[in-house]
Amino acid sequence: MRLKKALLNLAHSGPLLREGMASGNLRVLKNLLGPAFRGIILEQMHDHPTTRIPIGNSALFDWEYSQNKEQLQRLYEAAKRDQWNATTAIDWAVQVDPYDPAVQLLPDEYLVIQDHPAFRALSPREVDGQRHVILTWLLSQFLHGEQGALYAACQVTSAVPWMDAKLYGSTQAVDEGRHVEVFHRYLSEKLGRVYRIDANLYTIIDAIMRDSRWDMKFLGMQIMIEGLALGAFSTIRHATREPLLKEMLGYVIADEARHVQFGVVALKDWYLQADSLSERERREREDWVFELTLLMRNRFLAHEVYDEHWAHAMSRKEWDRLVLSSGLMTLFRRTMFKRIIPNIRKIGLLSDRIRPRYAALGLLQYEGGRDATTLTAADMMAPVF
Ligand SMILES: [Fe+2]
Ligand SMILES: [Fe+2]
Repeated sequence: MRLKKALLNLAHSGPLLREGMASGNLRVLKNLLGPAFRGIILEQMHDHPTTRIPIGNSALFDWEYSQNKEQLQRLYEAAKRDQWNATTAIDWAVQVDPYDPAVQLLPDEYLVIQDHPAFRALSPREVDGQRHVILTWLLSQFLHGEQGALYAACQVTSAVPWMDAKLYGSTQAVDEGRHVEVFHRYLSEKLGRVYRIDANLYTIIDAIMRDSRWDMKFLGMQIMIEGLALGAFSTIRHATREPLLKEMLGYVIADEARHVQFGVVALKDWYLQADSLSERERREREDWVFELTLLMRNRFLAHEVYDEHWAHAMSRKEWDRLVLSSGLMTLFRRTMFKRIIPNIRKIGLLSDRIRPRYAALGLLQYEGGRDATTLTAADMMAPVF
């Protein structure tokens, strides 16, 4: 049974494997193949209630405690000042009724297959049921991403070479713990279910956890996943009419804005320093970021929702096509890349060598945007359309 599922997953993975080789960088391919095999082909994270992932980094102790990075110090002060207690800051007494039209969970255009005849045949109540399902799937992925962010923040804190970054990282670990708390509480108390982690999200997290290089963890988590999260959170916050979710996402976004800024400030200092990386190492980072861009662009397809609700009505291929061209995904991609591409440029990983690949994806239109070091939490909160 397990073999059959693995073979089926392999057969469905053609586009992924093609994308995985897009950069032509063997080191990058090697780096992502193992995680993709475990996550996408074997789906090993679904076998047990827990998954053990070996961590590759070493902790760096600094006995001099030298602190000279002003931007990081300012971020640390802001993080201490802006802590919040999820138990008391959010009004958990608010009831969430997925069938109440006055507090619609998601608008129609976010329901990914709203133009399909099988969807159009649903009753209004069944459509509300689909709002509930899609939102629950999305927030479940946010929750799993937050768990990854919590562990990545802890690893980065121990591995990063600057004391200012370690102190700041300690606040991020608290923030991410709080995000796990609020997403899990909202899902279990208000929506009544948690979906399993998406295979592609698992693949990225697996790769980040195992990499022994602290800057790769930064790149993967602070720049890419956090950028994705910011785009997704602001899109949902803007779209939902459910007040508790809106409030909660507002708090979370304010924290995430600091996290992305942390990633950009730390990596900019490091990568723009002339001797920090060899040319080969720099190319590898550029290619890795590009591969993650591809993974994040095309691979969040909610197959669990398809299997449970729509497998009888259409092929998986048709589902994928509908999801990818849906208003929700189009908006996600736009908001995410508007956040991510200026940051990639700011940290020096958008060289002339890699630019044509981003251009081919139509993503260079975002490079002139503002990077995270120039954005406030209020900017991050605003939807990007
Ligand atoms: Fe977070
Ligand atoms: Fe974060």
